[in-house]
Amino acid sequence: MIDAASLFAAHESERYDLHRRHLNEQMVRMLRTIGYDVRFCRGEGAYLYDASGTRYLDLLSGFGVFALGRNHPALRHALISVLGGELPNLVQFDVSTLAGILAERLLARVPYLDKVFFANSGTEAVEAAIKFARCATGRGGLVYCEHAFHGLTYGALSLNADDVFRRGFEPLLPDCIRVPFNDLDALERALRSRDVAAFIVEPIQGKGVNLPADDYLQNAAALCRRAGTLFVADEIQTGLGRTGRFLAVEHWNVEPDMVLLAKALSGGHVPVGAVLLRKPIFDKLFNRMDRAVVHGSTFAKNDLAMAAGIATLDVLDAERLIENAADRGEQLLRALKQMMPRYEMLKEVRGKGLMIAVEFGPPQSLRLKAAWSLLEAATKGLFCQLITIPLFKEHKILTQVAGHGSHAIKLLPPLVLSEADCEWIVSAFESAIAASHRVPGAVWSLGKTLAEHALRTNPKSSAA
Ligand SMILES: Cc1ncc(COP(=O)(O)O)c(C=O)c1O
Repeated sequence: MIDAASLFAAHESERYDLHRRHLNEQMVRMLRTIGYDVRFCRGEGAYLYDASGTRYLDLLSGFGVFALGRNHPALRHALISVLGGELPNLVQFDVSTLAGILAERLLARVPYLDKVFFANSGTEAVEAAIKFARCATGRGGLVYCEHAFHGLTYGALSLNADDVFRRGFEPLLPDCIRVPFNDLDALERALRSRDVAAFIVEPIQGKGVNLPADDYLQNAAALCRRAGTLFVADEIQTGLGRTGRFLAVEHWNVEPDMVLLAKALSGGHVPVGAVLLRKPIFDKLFNRMDRAVVHGSTFAKNDLAMAAGIATLDVLDAERLIENAADRGEQLLRALKQMMPRYEMLKEVRGKGLMIAVEFGPPQSLRLKAAWSLLEAATKGLFCQLITIPLFKEHKILTQVAGHGSHAIKLLPPLVLSEADCEWIVSAFESAIAASHRVPGAVWSLGKTLAEHALRTNPKSSAA
């Protein structure tokens, strides 16, 4: 009998070596370079514990999957009950009861949509949406936004605006048109050909936490309707309460033709994805009995994923986590914004609920200007490491930079965050930002080391 916890305990100290030898060596190099190789050994709620027992506040939540926090007892109970129940999982020549229940409960929260298609991940939900849209409209075109991130499989990658992800993998899907986010004129022009199947958009963009203008999503949906284009909201990151509403589109009273979910729907434990859509779109693809399996995936609708989804919805309600996301988000936004007048490189704090960006920009004062330029010449966006590394090492807070070359740090914590956790975040940011404004100082010595490292790895960057 394999006991995973004992196996983990016996071998966890070898993890970097195992990965260096058998998996992604570059990931290990990256962790070692920035000093994140602390060997996390346990997770509970919003916290992670390293090999020495030190507690960290997790503002990444596994890229947004641990909305309920790690190892939530209700999730564990649901999953163990699936295994204990000896259920007839994935019969394939039957239909799943748990999938039926989860679909019904999801649609009850999004009453203008009629059907659910389940997948195994966010990117698979995007692939399904592309197929539904092309099949329902008979059109080939797809419109997406600058700074968009919809996943990394070929269809989703064709709608990915970051060249770092695209380069080396071309050719991608043809007929994909990129428009600036928040630009209705550009969208109108892109839709004019009448050959666009779908406009796919994140209501709040994950890369950078870019918020829509107040009228953008409503007007974009209206433009799509007029052009016969389907309006698809990618709520894979923003959905399930992250922004203080069940769906982020609710902030702007928009009713998309399709809504994509994944990440938090799994409770973090089991991969899952879902497309919620209108019946006429669904029925165009699944239009005949002999096409009942024309799109799908072997593991989709598996009992563990479906049970995790049902439990997740239950916990969101029972613990009022959507309200908590709204309240804690307000607390953080208010406190972080109050710091702005004190720090010249702190340019903007923005977000909704518990999806927040803290954005930095070039200083005015001469003493900081030279230091900023040195870092930027080495690698665009390197400044943020002068905040995230001290946040991690000194304040035990795990965060991320909001995208390649970005000057924003992103907060994507579990929705179970407490008031005390928010105070921890605010005092840690205050301290790290204050230190970054002191030149010379320990932080800028770190900056010099990082810049030298970046120049050694990519000597061309100094010319940029
Ligand atoms: C908005 C959005 N769409 C799609 C995806 C892809 O999801 P997955 O990583 O599960 O394939 C992500 C992942 O970060 C995302 O943030």
